[in-house]
Amino acid sequence: MQTVDQPSIIRLFRVTRRYGAQKALDDISLEIPANAFVFVTGPSGAGKSTLLKLLYLGLPSSEGQVIVDGMNLARMNRHRVPMLRRRIGIIFQDYKLISTRSVHQNVALVLEAAGTPHRAIAAKVNSVLRTVGMEARRDALPPSLSGGEQQRVAVARALVGEPRILLADEPTGSLDSASAAVVMDLILRFHQRGGTVLVATHDHHLIRSVPARVIHLVGGRLAENPETETAGDPLPAASNP
Ligand SMILES: Nc1ncnc2c1ncn2[C@@H]1O[C@H](COP(=O)(O)OP(=O)(O)OP(=O)(O)O)[C@@H](O)[C@H]1O
Ligand SMILES: [Mg+2]
Repeated sequence: MQTVDQPSIIRLFRVTRRYGAQKALDDISLEIPANAFVFVTGPSGAGKSTLLKLLYLGLPSSEGQVIVDGMNLARMNRHRVPMLRRRIGIIFQDYKLISTRSVHQNVALVLEAAGTPHRAIAAKVNSVLRTVGMEARRDALPPSLSGGEQQRVAVARALVGEPRILLADEPTGSLDSASAAVVMDLILRFHQRGGTVLVATHDHHLIRSVPARVIHLVGGRLAENPETETAGDPLPAASNP
């Protein structure tokens, strides 16, 4: 629920995104307050990934206004995009780690791109790798890791820059239930520290595992009864990852 002292960190006003003649998102208006935990759900092709991409300017919208952390993305100058991206951590279903760089280097790249002083980088990377339990594998190359381990590194990479917003697109889609519970626990801890979280998923077990706002998309539109709140029953594997 939005309050006066908790302004929306994400606002969409009449947003449409077209691919050719097709509308992947159709006239979406939404407000998400800071520190919300939101699931974006709906069938395959509903526009979930497209919605997340608009928020980090992975794609521009075709029409409408997208405002993220006070920045109007439609009017944003290209050279300000890195500033937007520094406020957002992104987790992809297929991890998107660089296979020829070590775990440590994959995470460090974010800070190097942000101009963090060299000496501070190692300490921050080691700390976040400890948080996700991947410190011992810091020199490993991603292809030598399991899917769950790669996703933990991807979570570390998303969190190392201390973003305000975490966007996760099917973050547990290719993981077994124990690894999924570990990754969700890391996302929840980010939320408990004050972060704003959007998770796109069609996994109803995952959605029910967290008390959260649920936004339903169908065919690029907000569903007729667009929102519910979940109670938060823990994932079966959450207590024994
Ligand atoms: N690069 C693209 N070019 C053309 N059409 C696209 C492109 N990306 C997505 N689309 C179309 O836009 C619609 C929404 O796609 P999107 O990937 O956002 O759906 P989704 O809800 O994330 O689906 P899934 O659950 O399968 O990941 C789909 O009809 C898709 O085919
Ligand atoms: Mg998708």
